Amino acid sequence: MRLVKALLCQLLALAVVLALRLWAPAPITPWPAVILQALLAGLFSRWIGQPLWWLPMHLLFMPAVLLSQTFHLPAGWYLLGLLGLVLVFWGTVKGDVPLFLSSNAVSEALIAIVRREQARSFADIGAGLGTIVAPLATACPDVRILALERAPLPWLFSACRCRRHPNVRAKLASFWDLDLGQFDVVFAFLSPLVMARVGAKIRREMRGGSLFVSSSFPIPEGNPESVLDLADSRKTKLYCYRIAP
Ligand SMILES: C[S@@+](CC[C@H](N)C(=O)[O-])C[C@H]1O[C@@H](n2cnc3c(N)ncnc32)[C@H](O)[C@@H]1O
Repeated sequence: MRLVKALLCQLLALAVVLALRLWAPAPITPWPAVILQALLAGLFSRWIGQPLWWLPMHLLFMPAVLLSQTFHLPAGWYLLGLLGLVLVFWGTVKGDVPLFLSSNAVSEALIAIVRREQARSFADIGAGLGTIVAPLATACPDVRILALERAPLPWLFSACRCRRHPNVRAKLASFWDLDLGQFDVVFAFLSPLVMARVGAKIRREMRGGSLFVSSSFPIPEGNPESVLDLADSRKTKLYCYRIAP
């Protein structure tokens, strides 16, 4: 639905600019027309209440198209670029969680948590490029670690990155199909959109006494045992939920 809305903003802005070009007393050259189209698309996007992060995409889309025309690249390059984006961002178009990475401060905090908990097993349920699991595997070689990832390219990257760590299993699958009851500590850095469903899943599946750690996004109406404020550039908060016995 969001994609349809974005497309509508772009098409509407294009229609206005084309109409202006038809009826304007003097011809409008390509760059002013494209800039006007981009501004209108951004305006329409705000008007229909799209989230703010769509604004830069609307502002950059048509200028990028016009710019790309000047390079005369073979069509195959665009297809390759699209394929690369699909393999990295996978379900993002459907509103799924995109790839963005945790800081070193987060991975260090998780190493401390896993040690304090004396955890034997750990899962990152959206492992991305292995930013969390790779340092954890080095620091805690006795912990059994699952790096679960749904997008093919990040999964491949984290699998290669962790190939020398026998305690890490990098699996290409969705966490919605995983039983979280097998782990002492589960980590997630996902999106506010899924946290209510994730909350229901951890309450249903995780063992009493185990720990769920969510980076940046709390579980709605959840009651964290502790919240860690990290001193990284994003001022990340780690919400730690102890599962009731
Ligand atoms: C914000 S990134 C976090 C990456 C890494 N955990 C970190 O902290 O640096 C979220 C990751 O979760 C993955 N993801 C989203 N939905 C998923 C699902 N249902 N199952 C497995 N992975 C998923 C995305 O592809 C993305 O790589």
